[in-house]
Amino acid sequence: MPKKILLSGIKPTGRPHIGNFFGAMKQFVDFQDEYESYIFIPDYHALTSVQDREKMASYTLDLAIGLLAIGLDPAKITLFKQSDVPEVTELTWIFNCLTTMPYLMRAHAFKDAEAKNKEINVGVFDYPMLMAADILIQDADIVPVGQDQKQHVEIARDTAEKFNRTFGETFKLPSSFIQPEVSVVPGIDGRKMSKSYNNHIPLFAGDDEVKSLVAKIVTDSKTPDEPKDPATDNVFALHRLFSEDQIEDLTSRYQAGTIGYKESKDILAANIIKFITPLRTKREAIAGDTAHVQAILTEGGKRAREHASCKMADVRQKLGL
Ligand code: ADP
Ligand code: TRP
Repeated sequence: MPKKILLSGIKPTGRPHIGNFFGAMKQFVDFQDEYESYIFIPDYHALTSVQDREKMASYTLDLAIGLLAIGLDPAKITLFKQSDVPEVTELTWIFNCLTTMPYLMRAHAFKDAEAKNKEINVGVFDYPMLMAADILIQDADIVPVGQDQKQHVEIARDTAEKFNRTFGETFKLPSSFIQPEVSVVPGIDGRKMSKSYNNHIPLFAGDDEVKSLVAKIVTDSKTPDEPKDPATDNVFALHRLFSEDQIEDLTSRYQAGTIGYKESKDILAANIIKFITPLRTKREAIAGDTAHVQAILTEGGKRAREHASCKMADVRQKLGL
């Protein structure tokens, strides 16, 4: 039986962080043997916020290096830049004509963006249609993402159903895959970790950067000898990811009131550094040969584009174009 198709993307909008890693990127590596995987860098999506040539180019390269450093193997997966598959923008237009404005106005990401700033660009509003095109053009079965992207995958599924109903069976119906215990990794202020909240710990952060960010994690003001609640503490939430083998001991010390936040943070920072160090070493080695990284993206782009152009030939024919 042919392998099922997995597809996902991480936007080049800054340095990837540990929320991106546990919520999405780790799954790309864990699943690369089981699925035929397409992992890409959605630069057209990033253009809704990154409008600077140098930044776009450096974030994109940096992310490609990061994805290789965590263990994605270009011999197994197709790694590419969204803009190397321009057919997705063509398909986006087609989806625009099938989708209604009131439907897209219900998207959480759009509502949040609009609540912050009325002058958002049309790209922010249309974002889910481009994402639907990314997913459907490659016939993806499964889309591993964090909780915040669940609705976007549902929109892609609705769009596939609508197209199939109108023009005949063409697109597969994709499902999201969300790892429950890491669906929302909290940032240092307790809100969802996000580049846009600037509350993130970069995945390849230096030791001092980790120590200073961990020191800033927001806690309540309990003294070291007061009992603390592991369920509500932001430091403990990150222990669940980085301090697995100490978790029972930490739980009982929290409950008994035999650990202060300072000590808890020191343990956490040491564990994060232990986790990041080998990744950073690998990242530095890959970053030494950027021509090789660019070649991987170019090759991946060609492969992804081949599939996309076949699909578009079918779509055009179905539309009577
Ligand atoms: P950011 O919010 O930092 O801009 P992205 O939108 O680039 O992150 O997200 C890339 C992927 O990482 C998506 O699948 C998203 O759901 C996931 N992700 C982002 N932040 C988190 C988080 N705090 N917890 C879990 N997953 C996350
Ligand atoms: N919207 C996703 C995010 O903000 C990135 C993305 C773009 C994506 N296209 C995609 C994710 C297709 C999965 C599948 O994180």
